[in-house]
Amino acid sequence: MPIDKKFVDQLAIVTSKAALASSYLIGKKDKIAADKAAVDSMRSNLNNFDIQGQIVIGEGELDDAPMLYIGEKLGTNKGPEFDIAVDPLEGTNFVANNLPGALSVIAITKKNNLFKAPETYMEKISAKANEKNVVDLDFSVKKNIFNLSEYLNKKPENLTACILDRPRHNEIIKDLKELKVKVKLITDGDVSGALLVTDDKYNVDIFLGVGGGPEGVIAAAALDTFNCSFQGRFLFQTDQDKIRAKNMGINDLSKKYELNEIVSGDSIFCATGITSGDLVSGIKLDGNEFISETLVTHKSSGLKKVIKLKQKIR
Ligand code: FBP
Repeated sequence: MPIDKKFVDQLAIVTSKAALASSYLIGKKDKIAADKAAVDSMRSNLNNFDIQGQIVIGEGELDDAPMLYIGEKLGTNKGPEFDIAVDPLEGTNFVANNLPGALSVIAITKKNNLFKAPETYMEKISAKANEKNVVDLDFSVKKNIFNLSEYLNKKPENLTACILDRPRHNEIIKDLKELKVKVKLITDGDVSGALLVTDDKYNVDIFLGVGGGPEGVIAAAALDTFNCSFQGRFLFQTDQDKIRAKNMGINDLSKKYELNEIVSGDSIFCATGITSGDLVSGIKLDGNEFISETLVTHKSSGLKKVIKLKQKIR
């Protein structure tokens, strides 16, 4: 049974209200307050739904995240059972510093269909190709670029690769430069970065590099509907990370996960703009109303579009 389409509209309202709440903190140099505003809004709105939801990707574990923590149950405890992944404010720096690209994001699947990812880094790759062996985390940068070049019938110098601007990516960026690939550096926000491969209008052919694991799982939920490829491999740096992973049931710590091992079955993804960015425009106030733009996907119906909502500010 697919997930009822009514949840697309309901979740778009949840993320748009969370985005509105966070938007009041744009440029206030306070990442924590901006995040908290989005978290509080998202949690209270999700709790009004007739669902039996459980957070599998959230704000962290109970000890350090009193709200939307991993394992938290949400909803009225009536209705369908869902796994829920939230990133109420993706791009805390963007809101704090009034920069483009902040999003409020949620993804849901039926119970047990979303990977329970630990709070750690993840090596990721996504591309405009949904065939095996075109791009792969185990291939060198050169092999990935040459394969993709052949697959898309574009010369390497006409390909664009998106990557987080971090010193840990210096080697990859050097390789891309040698291959004459166009590099699009992003300062934050790799959910959005990974999704830039979904449409020609963004001019990005491949996204790669290391970012947050939870962000990887959330992006995978949308990429599944777009029919784009995604692979992820967690990077466990400390012994504590490794123990937590084992406790979450991850035995092979260096496993490469394919998209369908991260998200399976039907899914809904909603990302509302807080500040305007590549994917969607940010929140606009209009008297006692606000306008939001939300990128929504629904796997079973093939829905993938940006919806614009005008709602009353309560
Ligand atoms: P926050 O919104 O939690 O600040 O995350 C922003 C982000 O850029 C993510 O999109 C990305 O996955 C992660 O941080 C990268 O982490 P780091 O800044 O440690 O490289």
